[in-house]
Amino acid sequence: VRVAVVFGGRNSEHAVSLMGAGGVLAAIDRSKYEVVPIGIATDGRWVLAPDGQRFEIEGGELPAVDESGTTLALPSDNGRIVALDAGRIPTTLGQVDVVFPLLHGAYGEDGTIQGLLEMAGVRYVGSGVLASAVGMDKAYMKTLLAGAGLPVGPYVVVRDRDWRLEPERVIKDVEALGWPVFVKPSRAGSSQGISRADDLRELERAIELAREHDPKVLVEAAIEGREIECAVLESPGDEPPAASLPGEIVINDDHEFYDFTAKYIGSDTSLAVPADLPAAASDELRRMAVAAFEALGCEGLARVDFFYTPSGELIVNEINTMPGFTATSMAPQLWDATGVPYAELIDRMIQLALG
Ligand code: DAL
Ligand code: MG
Repeated sequence: VRVAVVFGGRNSEHAVSLMGAGGVLAAIDRSKYEVVPIGIATDGRWVLAPDGQRFEIEGGELPAVDESGTTLALPSDNGRIVALDAGRIPTTLGQVDVVFPLLHGAYGEDGTIQGLLEMAGVRYVGSGVLASAVGMDKAYMKTLLAGAGLPVGPYVVVRDRDWRLEPERVIKDVEALGWPVFVKPSRAGSSQGISRADDLRELERAIELAREHDPKVLVEAAIEGREIECAVLESPGDEPPAASLPGEIVINDDHEFYDFTAKYIGSDTSLAVPADLPAAASDELRRMAVAAFEALGCEGLARVDFFYTPSGELIVNEINTMPGFTATSMAPQLWDATGVPYAELIDRMIQLALG
């Protein structure tokens, strides 16, 4: 089976994707899969990864797609549209059986590459166009989750026009949430562009920061609670999706929240798997994780992030349709603890896509 593992991408989670791809390329069963590693450079160029491609953070430097590899396609070049022969990914690659788009964020986790692959008639790992697009956009994500009866926290959506034309109304709506608030780009990942605002002055700065990533911004009421995550895996056949054991993000230093640095560069953050929760809360959380997966119509794997409040309430923070995927990332760790080791998880995801 020929698998194209696609990584990188035109977005701010480029490096995060490479770290996951490095994990998959190291762990994938080579006796079963012939692997074609493809990087999408930050300019959108598709490149066959050269042997020396670096996937790890080294000396504090984030990895990026090595552009010295053979250029395969320029999906965004000169406005030209690449011919998409059925069953082929752009140009010279030839036939692949399945694509593993190990991409986060825009042009990767947001339904766009999924649409490209649909049009090309190529099977791919993970969620389809709609679930990916909704999962990428926190405003729509919350609408769908709430629509499925899942508890989401209070929030205000600040669209570009709202902020430019009616900032007073936005401020009034935000003040009704109470301070502090968390301000997020609606479409971004790995906590980029997210900051906390404790008052009005900070709010303006936070909204401007978020707007650097996306003109649509979400302001959320701060929720006091432990951060618990659960990974959901599609089951083969007609079985319902399965939820992993829950895990907890434990931040031991002074990071205000689980931000980009805490996530990837290093800080005293650890994962507690399984999370120390009362059995009833754990069961409820797993039920809700599956409900969230189904509310968006996810496929393959997703990670659902919760807050567990001191009073025992569970609130869905978000769902990620292509969660961080190094061997030590939360979703693989959760499945490992639930009895599906990393290599087997990769295998299952590919088999689901082929099935
Ligand atoms: N967006 C990152 C990769 C995550 O959710 O894990
Ligand atoms: Mg996320």
